Amino acid sequence: MGIKMAPLSVTKSFRDLNRLDFRILSVIEILMAKHEFVPIEEIIRFMKYTEKKIQLSLKRLKKMNLVFIVQRHYLGTALTFIGYDALALKALVEKNVLAQLGPEIGAGKESNVHLGMADDGKEFLIKFHRLGKLDFRATRKSRTFIAEKRHLSPLYESRLSAEREHKALKALYTKGVSVPEPIVQNRHLVTMRIIHGQDLFRIRRSDFGSEEEIAILFQNIIQEVKKCVQHGYIHGDLSEYNIRLNEENYPVLIDWPQYVNTEELHAVEILTRDCQNILNFFERKFLVKIHYDMSEIIQILD
Ligand SMILES: Nc1ncnc2c1ncn2[C@@H]1O[C@H](COP(=O)(O)OP(=O)(O)OP(=O)(O)O)[C@@H](O)[C@H]1O
Ligand SMILES: [Mg+2]
Repeated sequence: MGIKMAPLSVTKSFRDLNRLDFRILSVIEILMAKHEFVPIEEIIRFMKYTEKKIQLSLKRLKKMNLVFIVQRHYLGTALTFIGYDALALKALVEKNVLAQLGPEIGAGKESNVHLGMADDGKEFLIKFHRLGKLDFRATRKSRTFIAEKRHLSPLYESRLSAEREHKALKALYTKGVSVPEPIVQNRHLVTMRIIHGQDLFRIRRSDFGSEEEIAILFQNIIQEVKKCVQHGYIHGDLSEYNIRLNEENYPVLIDWPQYVNTEELHAVEILTRDCQNILNFFERKFLVKIHYDMSEIIQILD
């Protein structure tokens, strides 16, 4: 419904937003802690602007797809992902992290990845977490939505996901594990340094000299996974799609929101699956037999 393409629309509409528009967006955000759809009356009561000004602004915000307006037994409004993007991007601008939003360089099931540029011209990466779909027609859900403490709110879920990813990156980067250096996180956005190089799934046999080099890459990946485990983290979705090779062909583990702690219930199974995925990839891709005894890494869990 166009919602997933948010960031581009944001840059386009960003310039047209005034102070009141942003104020209203953040008031809606605050009141969404209480309501799935915020009664417009409550916004008017909350703000010191005239009703007419608020109505005009809401109309503009709706036109730019930054908010939904819905007619229930009251007239209500809620942020769209684009509206949430606008608030988060503005926060990054105000923290002097972001000067300009660049093009999209990747999109997964649950995220969009963009380039960002800082004041000093340095580029970095912005990952927009997008969990779930926003659909204002899903009326029947609205009661459980509040009862279950917002667990059905896609914006809230997306923020939790970004917080988890940032937390893992920060912990692991600080410990010297090969992961991207995190910069800041705001709402559903995570920013980090770009890993120049390529995704593991793209490598070819011709990228390597000898079979020995292939074995070294495999060992380096296992080495990094081990370090994660030693610091209490298991990736949980490790595969050739979530490993980048930097310019020295050294592996960097990316995409962390679904990590699990090593004390968690299924830690052994999840760690085994992670390692098995990598093993399978190497054997499939290079038609080599990798001799690796998984118990070596599993025993770190004991
Ligand atoms: N720090 C980085 N430097 C360079 N490229 C990156 C970086 N982080 C991610 N990418 C690129 O963006 C793609 C998507 O990132 P990531 O794997 O984190 O999210 P995702 O796979 O879209 O998430 P999901 O698993 O929710 O679908 C990666 O496959 C990679 O190509
Ligand atoms: Mg990924």
